[in-house]
Amino acid sequence: MPDHVHHGHIFHLAGNPLITEASDALVEIPDGALVVGADGTIKYCGEKSRLPAEFASAQRHEHPGGYLIPGFVDTHIHFPQTYAGDSYGGGQLLEWLNLCIFPSESQFVDPEFARTAAVEFTKRRVAAGTTAMMAFGSAFPHAQDALFEETRKAGLRLVSGRGIQTVGGDTAKPLLTSEEDAIRLTRDEIEKWHAADTGDHRTALLHVAIVPRFSLSVTTETLRNLGELYDEYRDRGVYVHTHLNENHRPGTGEIDTTKDVYQVDSYLDTYDGKFLPGSQVGGKSLLGPRTILAHSVHCQDAELARMAETGTSISHCPVSQLFLGSGTMPWKRTVASGVNISAGTDFGGGDEWLIPRVLGDAFKQHITEPGEAGVSMHPAEMLFIGTLGGARALDMENRFGNFDEGKEADFLVIEPVDGLKAMLDNAVRSDDPVLARDQTLFGLLMGIRESSIAEVYVQGRQVVL
Ligand code: GUN
Ligand code: ZN
Repeated sequence: MPDHVHHGHIFHLAGNPLITEASDALVEIPDGALVVGADGTIKYCGEKSRLPAEFASAQRHEHPGGYLIPGFVDTHIHFPQTYAGDSYGGGQLLEWLNLCIFPSESQFVDPEFARTAAVEFTKRRVAAGTTAMMAFGSAFPHAQDALFEETRKAGLRLVSGRGIQTVGGDTAKPLLTSEEDAIRLTRDEIEKWHAADTGDHRTALLHVAIVPRFSLSVTTETLRNLGELYDEYRDRGVYVHTHLNENHRPGTGEIDTTKDVYQVDSYLDTYDGKFLPGSQVGGKSLLGPRTILAHSVHCQDAELARMAETGTSISHCPVSQLFLGSGTMPWKRTVASGVNISAGTDFGGGDEWLIPRVLGDAFKQHITEPGEAGVSMHPAEMLFIGTLGGARALDMENRFGNFDEGKEADFLVIEPVDGLKAMLDNAVRSDDPVLARDQTLFGLLMGIRESSIAEVYVQGRQVVL
């Protein structure tokens, strides 16, 4: 197999920057070349005019007017909500879950339905250019099998785990298991799918997460048992995924209800093994560099500090936070805490499959934060949470997320069409080359729609469905 060289306008974040260093790490190469070796790794990323002679015979792919950017990483999306985007009638989070989401997820009890949904889910994520993801899974093992199988067929990256629920009201009933089955089914899924099958891939594409839905869907016994399970599998690189501090309606919202049920002052404590009243020794912690907590909108400083200390990441889901009235994550304060921030569609709660739409809503939310808190996100920060920060949240930054030489080549060819093309072709740019670069990236990220995502590559292989 020959090397391949793609010619296009390159944007990526080089090295291992913190989000605060993203603008310094931003690389733009308008007349760029990206060389992908036969082993699926990046051999060269630079000026076309400086392409090393050793790649002169590489198979050429010209993308005139096109852009080459790292694949999008969606760190929070709900597989069993494939058909539940824009569900109306439930109001805010807890009512919406009971009225719309639990019944919708219960449909996955039918294996044929679940298989069709897995096919649709996989199609939608490819159309959106999502090369890697953390997917909140279905309660039903056959549905999870379908998701892993369809993902493997397509050659995409996936971390997922069955959604664990051991308590709930009437509409949640079809999704509940006994305490014993909650652990058994998760253990079975890990043994079956976690990094199980590299096939002819360079490194494993499929991984399993331990996924308690959120503290209100499980008991202290479940959390304690999951802590034990995680302790057993942590060294094998198993993940943890759940929701934190999402909806703050005073008194009856998710956060106050959690604190009330668990008798804690900090929601994070319930995932940190401190879920018994006043106890520091409730169980083993679920936090760590392979843990992603979705939303984390209303965190206390101590909670952010603990997440940063343990290497736990946030999946920021502003599209969903708008839809469910969950509020605005304080951008400056969250960034300043040092916690890693990635981006999630939260599809189901969110009504967009596209990470660029998440980045656009993040920009709009944070510029409208009141007073001193309001901030104009730098486009490099937007690119960070949608690519490299996501790879870091999945603890796979050493494999993908940017175009550093040696990384596995997960990338997108963006060929702007329609309004995006017209805008990029005609936009006025600053005379300052750095600002002009930032303006182009911003316009690209704000304007990308599925129609402009022309080609999707994972480990150097084009994903064709
Ligand atoms: N918290 C618990 N379950 C869910 C869910 O399905 N979606 C969102 N947005 N939050 C949750
Ligand atoms: Zn969610």
